[in-house]
Amino acid sequence: MKVLLSADHAGMTLRNEVKDLLEEMGIEYEDAGCSCETSVDYPDYALPAAERVAKGEFDRGILICGTGIGMSISANKVKGIRCALAHDVYSAKLTRHHNDANMLAMGERVIGPGPAREIAKAFLETEYDGGRHANRVKKITDYEEEHN
Ligand code: RB5
Repeated sequence: MKVLLSADHAGMTLRNEVKDLLEEMGIEYEDAGCSCETSVDYPDYALPAAERVAKGEFDRGILICGTGIGMSISANKVKGIRCALAHDVYSAKLTRHHNDANMLAMGERVIGPGPAREIAKAFLETEYDGGRHANRVKKITDYEEEHN
């Protein structure tokens, strides 16, 4: 599995924590920034990262900003991306089982490093169930096909 990480200025510390987790898990990853000392605009990081995941360069993406909200809104504008904003392990697991989410967004101003690690781990280790969920996900991808 290959994972793309990206964060704005408000998510860099938590992004580094997730980086440590990926190292510990032996998961291949790329850090797409930011390494900024001043404020940046989260769409400038979320959109290119989402494009790269949508193209299949990476299996999953993890995006971090202050709340996770701006990153998730932005990423979900990209065709083929299902980015879940999750701040609990249950949601992180269920968005994989049911939604086949390919990106996870979290907010550094919302959760601490311990829970963020657990959430990221759950997101990366949980498989998609398919089955009855496949037709629901297909309705999203069909909509994207028809409206892009
Ligand atoms: C930056 O201040 C903050 O707005 C951003 O990180 C994010 O929380 C937006 O949704």
